[in-house]
Amino acid sequence: MSISNKALPRTAKKSAALSGVAKVPGDKSISHRALILGSLTVGETKIVGLLESSDVLNTAKAMQAFGADVRRNTDHTWSIFGFGVGGFSEPTQIIDCGNSGTGIRLTMGAMATSSITATFTGDESLVERPMARIIEPLEQFGADSLSRENCLLPLTIRGASDPISIEYFSKIPSAQIKSAVLLAALNAPGTTVFHEPEKSRDHTEKMLSAFGADISTSEDVNGYRVIIKGYPELSPQNVIIPQDPSSAAFPICAALIVEGSKILLENVCQNPTRNGLIITLMEMGANIKIENTRLCNGEIVADLTVSSSKLFGVDVPTERVVSMIDEYPILAAVASLAKGKTVMRGIKELRVKESDRISAMANGLKANGVEVEEGEDYLIIVGNGTDSVMGGATVDTFFDHRIAMSFLCLGLATKKPITIDDSGSVDTSFPSFFDLMGTLGATIL
Ligand code: S3P
Repeated sequence: MSISNKALPRTAKKSAALSGVAKVPGDKSISHRALILGSLTVGETKIVGLLESSDVLNTAKAMQAFGADVRRNTDHTWSIFGFGVGGFSEPTQIIDCGNSGTGIRLTMGAMATSSITATFTGDESLVERPMARIIEPLEQFGADSLSRENCLLPLTIRGASDPISIEYFSKIPSAQIKSAVLLAALNAPGTTVFHEPEKSRDHTEKMLSAFGADISTSEDVNGYRVIIKGYPELSPQNVIIPQDPSSAAFPICAALIVEGSKILLENVCQNPTRNGLIITLMEMGANIKIENTRLCNGEIVADLTVSSSKLFGVDVPTERVVSMIDEYPILAAVASLAKGKTVMRGIKELRVKESDRISAMANGLKANGVEVEEGEDYLIIVGNGTDSVMGGATVDTFFDHRIAMSFLCLGLATKKPITIDDSGSVDTSFPSFFDLMGTLGATIL
């Protein structure tokens, strides 16, 4: 599948040592949330370090369509003049969220308790991704929906005219489900309680609290719980967005597998709900120094120095899945150059991401000479150490940015180059990827 009009293949070749400072863009999850929460206040919310990728820009457009004034300032900061909780205007056009599951699900949640109707759609990938997981709780608040079979996009939501608060038990640990419920709860009377089996990324809770919502969280053996009160007085904030750990994962892993490399990444978000990959890589023998750990705008950030390393296969514990859900593609790539088996279980959610990531990685790795075992909810990679992967094949990326960047990073350390069928998807999360990798010394043609 190619979503761009014309496919843009790229080829990564064995590279000399990578070095320098890798300046990764702002965190995607936090960027979406800053735009949405800024829209739910009255006054100016200022954002520093917003990720200017197509996913996030689509959320900015969605907020404009609902009545927010969203501006990019000349100093590259962004200003949102919002409409306040419950102040949504009815959009006159269909809301197209492009490739972004986060953008569409959070926006649907935010508008579902306002008495307006909106129709949502997305690109060829997004229209096949499950929305029932969002629609089910939103209907409990009193919203209605109309869609293709199984709640697939295009989908129209008629927001609740008389919303009620809910108690919702999510079966899946998902920050998108959680955030949709918490944002819907803002315009419902009383208290909404959300439960998930494990704690997913908590940027929404942190940001809601910073904007003045009455929200509390707790965790025990049964899972994680959030309690939030409706009709808060949210006030505009200055938001500083740290560098995205999921984007940082690409230069980090490239530096680990390209011999002689040493790179520095500053200001990377180290929220414990996001750092499963770093923990796993360190267990594999990665030389990663984490320094200057500090708080920035409520999020933990740190500077990371990464040096190329001999890696060993590991068994990734299933309880870590949620904190590295987006990092399995790049982990699978790196694992193919580690010595021994890397076992990744409990990852069936990967089948409903921007592509079926278990199958996309398994097929691409096999085509490049890696021994892989694939199951419904697992992936096992048998690595033979540094310089053991042949490469030489062209990989189908299914317009999935993380599949594209994972194979380009792997191609920097394989015997023969690796080509990806289309690089257009990279713009959804990491528009500066090619420039940044080039400045570090990577050969990507
Ligand atoms: C995200 C949550 C995760 C993640 C996605 C971003 C978010 O999705 O995969 O890239 O910002 O809330 P799920 O909630 O579906 O696990």
